[in-house]
Amino acid sequence: MPAVAGAERLLGEVEEAEAALREAAERALDGEASFDAVIAADQKIEPRDAMPDAYRAGLIRQIAQHAHSEIIGMQPEGNWISRAPSLRRKAILLAKVQDEAGHGLYLYAAAETLGVSRAELDTALLTGKQKYSSIFNYPTLSWADMGAIGWLVDGAAIVNQVPLCRCSYGPYARAMIRVCKEESFHQRQGYQSLYVLAQGTPEQRAMAQDAVDRWWYPSLAMFGPPDADSTHSAQSMAWKVKRFSNDELRQRFVDMCVPQAEILGVTLPDPNLTWNELRGHYDYTSPDFDELMRVVKGDGPCSRQRLAHRNRAHEDGAWVREAAAAYAAKKNRKVMA
Ligand SMILES: [Fe+2]
Ligand SMILES: [Fe+2]
Repeated sequence: MPAVAGAERLLGEVEEAEAALREAAERALDGEASFDAVIAADQKIEPRDAMPDAYRAGLIRQIAQHAHSEIIGMQPEGNWISRAPSLRRKAILLAKVQDEAGHGLYLYAAAETLGVSRAELDTALLTGKQKYSSIFNYPTLSWADMGAIGWLVDGAAIVNQVPLCRCSYGPYARAMIRVCKEESFHQRQGYQSLYVLAQGTPEQRAMAQDAVDRWWYPSLAMFGPPDADSTHSAQSMAWKVKRFSNDELRQRFVDMCVPQAEILGVTLPDPNLTWNELRGHYDYTSPDFDELMRVVKGDGPCSRQRLAHRNRAHEDGAWVREAAAAYAAKKNRKVMA
């Protein structure tokens, strides 16, 4: 491209950006009204826009917990990378666990746009001040757990997260679009892995069934407490962060899993699972929400181990953070010179 045309294009971009800034500043003058108007019009709130303090705080809490879950979620599966039964399975699992680190990164970056620092978020996780999804406090006892986690845990994550692609906060919604694409690969690889086991020897079939038996109810609990007990839901729905209630999403997940379990040839561990013609949905037994609350409060089978491991990894990685900061400072000096 000729140099003049390039410079003109750049100037045009700068002008556009300045106009957007002026427009944002005008909107900020009448913050509350503009926030309500954006939400009512189903448009996105962006980092520069005015927003109620509670909207900001709620989003920081939600995005941070989500980011922490991605990072802690690497542990149960990371546990099996060295014991994968073939090179192919090892490569797939390695790619999946690495994806989860990437999800954590997108989400921490989205949270930072709300004015919280990465260091604050790290501290909140490492000290247990902020939570992560309870599902990752359960142990992975056999190779079949890798299949069951992909199918059920990543499957539940997709059902939860697809509506977040339309959430009212722009950076969160955009991060979720990419996350969901990768979660879809996670779910499929898990399903395929479990399918192979479920068609295998009697021992392999028993291992697949045992994994499904152990992961079914914790996966149902991933949708959170029942609607009647859900403290943050109503406001979150009004702000269009959340689009469907916990129970609606849980039902959607159950309806999705039943035919998939039939194809797999595994039984979901719920004798009450029956098609309800009237409702047009499957009836099912709810997970034990008292157990969920105990795990949320830090009393899950692996809660202490997960947090201790994350703290150790954080300390071990101090030199990497220091080196990266030194490199960034050196590059900055070069740019200034
Ligand atoms: Fe993820
Ligand atoms: Fe995933």
